[in-house]
Amino acid sequence: MYPSGEIYGGFRSSYDYGPLGSLMLRNVKDAWIRSMVQQRDDVVLIDAAILGAPQVFEASGHLSNFSDPLVDCTVCKRRFREDQLDDRDCPESKAKCVFTAARAFNLMFQTHAGPVEGEGATVYLRPETAQGMFVNFANVLQTSRMKPPFGIAQVGKSFRNEITPGNFIFRTREFEQMELEFFVPPSESAKWYEYWCKTRMQWYIDYGIPAEMLRIREHAKDELSHYSAGTSDIEFLFPWGWGELEGVAQRTDYDLKQHAEHSRQKLEYFDQATNERYVPFVVEPAAGVNRTMAAFLLAAYDEDVVNDEPRTVLRLHPRLAPFQIAVLPLSKKETLMPLAKQIYSMLSTRYMCDFDETQAIGRRYRRQDEIGTPYCVTVDFDSLEDKSVTIRERDTTNQHRVSIDTLLSEFQSILGY
Ligand code: GAP
Repeated sequence: MYPSGEIYGGFRSSYDYGPLGSLMLRNVKDAWIRSMVQQRDDVVLIDAAILGAPQVFEASGHLSNFSDPLVDCTVCKRRFREDQLDDRDCPESKAKCVFTAARAFNLMFQTHAGPVEGEGATVYLRPETAQGMFVNFANVLQTSRMKPPFGIAQVGKSFRNEITPGNFIFRTREFEQMELEFFVPPSESAKWYEYWCKTRMQWYIDYGIPAEMLRIREHAKDELSHYSAGTSDIEFLFPWGWGELEGVAQRTDYDLKQHAEHSRQKLEYFDQATNERYVPFVVEPAAGVNRTMAAFLLAAYDEDVVNDEPRTVLRLHPRLAPFQIAVLPLSKKETLMPLAKQIYSMLSTRYMCDFDETQAIGRRYRRQDEIGTPYCVTVDFDSLEDKSVTIRERDTTNQHRVSIDTLLSEFQSILGY
């Protein structure tokens, strides 16, 4: 990850994801979609617009409620969030900060659609993906034959004009979310809330975060968002302390009712079995892609000793690692290249693969360990004769020989896909 616009000194807590970072970021999102959409028959995926009309955010309550208390220091002119203040000194002087009274600072980014600025042209960059699911509730009901309990999921960018972004990619103004709005009969809300807290916690464990680096923390009443009747955060033990990865919230019927009232459209479900018409309650597991990626990286980082040499190894889950396999011809000699390239072509039909022909083989193994590649395939001179290659495992550094004919099925069995 690089500071965005690094050649100009970086841009305001924004980050660009490079050749490895972008692959891993995508893998985090794919892993979420896999477990939340692909492996369930009760959740569908949507992809809604980022730019939104003021009416959406008026109805959702974001225009009036989505703000942080902002205070200014009258001495050093810096700005802080009132809820994050402690006794502060002004930089480069002995003076203490003197704060103004707090004022509400709306976190939504505002821009203009079309060439004319003004009242009617104001649009907002979404501060959460969630509203896309609520405003499409009726569309999805009509076209998908879903009935509660069912969910609408979305992965995408959100924007918040955070007063104090920081801790690298933990809090930025532009970030990605993975959110599910799960619509349930009102009487089942508490049950599903418990279900999603447990299910989401297990997802982080399944993808390699040790349970002792995770905890679930229930919000106190005064911490709750304007729409929530109860929220629990799944937190990760970052180097700077516990930080939120995901919030699981009971949004009740707040959003559907608000949008029904403002749009004058019916946003409810008619249950033909019971002849009952009702507005579903919503349970929402809402995770941040970027900080989840940071947590996976931190949990995977390890140092050990191999053949009396220290090594750095990222013990990433194979589905999260930027590359699943690296193909390494033992030598750059022309004789090995065609076979090595052929093996790369074959494996890369199914897996994201790296190809590295530079430097000594030991150095190349270390490089792959450091970026978390779980398997290397080494093509050597014997491969030309015995039509076999060596698979080397990242975690154990064990090696075994496999026939090229069965290489794809071998990986299918060790990776499980
Ligand atoms: N729809 C509910 C919602 O947006 P949230 O707790 O405000 O709830 C959900 O956001 C998740 O999005 C958070 O748990 C966090 O992982 C991520 N997130 C929120 N603000 C963020 C920011 N400024 N930078 C990075 N991630 C952020």
